[in-house]
Amino acid sequence: MSNEQSRLANPVIISCSNLKGGEGKTTIARHLVHYASEVLGLRVLAADFDPQGNLTDSLTSEKASARSSTADLYADDFDLSGVSVLESATNISVLPANKKSLEALAEVAGGRKALVSRASSNLRAVAKAYDVVIVDTPTNAPLCYLAGIAASDGSVSPVQMDVYGLRGATDFVKELPRVRATYNARHKHLGFVVNRFNARAKSHAEILDQARASNLPILDTVIRDRIAVQDALSRAMPVWRGPRGTVNRNASKEFKTMCREVFAAVGVDLAKVGA
Ligand SMILES: Nc1ncnc2c1ncn2[C@@H]1O[C@H](COP(=O)(O)OP(=O)(O)O)[C@@H](O)[C@H]1O
Ligand SMILES: [Mg+2]
Repeated sequence: MSNEQSRLANPVIISCSNLKGGEGKTTIARHLVHYASEVLGLRVLAADFDPQGNLTDSLTSEKASARSSTADLYADDFDLSGVSVLESATNISVLPANKKSLEALAEVAGGRKALVSRASSNLRAVAKAYDVVIVDTPTNAPLCYLAGIAASDGSVSPVQMDVYGLRGATDFVKELPRVRATYNARHKHLGFVVNRFNARAKSHAEILDQARASNLPILDTVIRDRIAVQDALSRAMPVWRGPRGTVNRNASKEFKTMCREVFAAVGVDLAKVGA
């Protein structure tokens, strides 16, 4: 199916967000990016709001200087026509993270609310040239993660089955009403994706039962802890792609199912885009 045919009527913006680092946000973000471009044939922008720039690094080899970056979205003289993204693979563009500029935002005058609102509305303007925008966010830089959540139609949050993971998930759910009231009333929490699950750990199964019995919105797909995920990261590919013998079928299935669940939850009609 060609891009023209599969183009969505309105761009869909999804942020990968939670309030705890290391749970798998960037891993999920990069798989959503690849799934949307490769499997759904959509035009994708990956917008990296994490000063660490992991999503940028996993999608580009080029150094991101002298180009636009997500920090530009906060500027009062932001110029949409001057945006210059990096081209990654077919159908994948990247608005990279620039560590220094994102960190410098903390020093910019203007107040959090004004800056976050400006960045999110500018990202929505940039999104109009794409079908899907996947936003990666950090956990400890509010200006950055709030802009990502505020701009997006929905957020998806990885969570690991331990006490800290669950606590982070509960905190995130508590934070969302405030984000909705301040920035985007229509923002939807698409759900938590259980990540790095170990079927042999009794505690993981117990915490998963506990989480499912609670009010936390947990998606059906459970992603296991697999070396294949880290191997795929080193070859800068999604888990379902790689030379013969390197692709783990179970990991591929889990990640593809997770992507379908997320796109369906945000309202993408998978049958319509030919998936
Ligand atoms: N299902 C998984 N199995 C194995 N390793 C994983 C899995 N999910 C994530 N990882 C690894 O865990 C680390 C943290 O994940 P990452 O996506 O960078 O988290 P975050 O962006 O939330 O900080 C990375 O090294 C990543 O490759
Ligand atoms: Mg990350």
